[in-house]
Amino acid sequence: MVAKFVGSRTENNLFAAFVGESQARNRYSFAASFFASGRLKVLEKLFLFVADQEKQHAKIFYNFLSSFGSDREINIEGASYPVDVLNNSVGIFEKSQRNELVEHELYKEFGEEARYEGFSEISKKFLEISEIEKSHGERFGEFAGLLRGNELFACKSGNSCWLCLECGKIYNGCQAPQECPVCGHPFGYFLKKDLSLL
Ligand SMILES: [Fe+2]
Ligand SMILES: [Fe+2]
Repeated sequence: MVAKFVGSRTENNLFAAFVGESQARNRYSFAASFFASGRLKVLEKLFLFVADQEKQHAKIFYNFLSSFGSDREINIEGASYPVDVLNNSVGIFEKSQRNELVEHELYKEFGEEARYEGFSEISKKFLEISEIEKSHGERFGEFAGLLRGNELFACKSGNSCWLCLECGKIYNGCQAPQECPVCGHPFGYFLKKDLSLL
């Protein structure tokens, strides 16, 4: 089993995925810092939330790699990774959405290759994580749309409920309050209640 795994396409793909997840986690941490500097707590939290999930994906892939064979070095074949300039809010969401959807498609291929090579458990994980990346992409796309339409902190169609992420206050209005009436944190801490991060 070990000899079969070491040198397989699946080993290569797992390592490519581990590298990709590690980079995504860092990019999302950088994005979180960008939004923290603009006092947009809700967007900082969103990126840290997803960054932690990418870490978990990286761990799953790494655990597979380390469970086969001994210490070794792996050269990745046929892998490329994005360098995104993270300097504006909408662009960060759009680029993150694109990267997630690329991963979604890639992991479907990796899942198929793992199945072909006889690694059914690894195949299943690739396919499960592929679906998670799709949901990440969709969430980033939704937030990109809200930012483009200036609707992240305002509602164009009547009132909405706004949740303060700091103290839990739920505020009803056509836009998030300038500051929370309970804890005093600014509007950047508010999330439209129906936009759960979960
Ligand atoms: Fe991931
Ligand atoms: Fe993701």
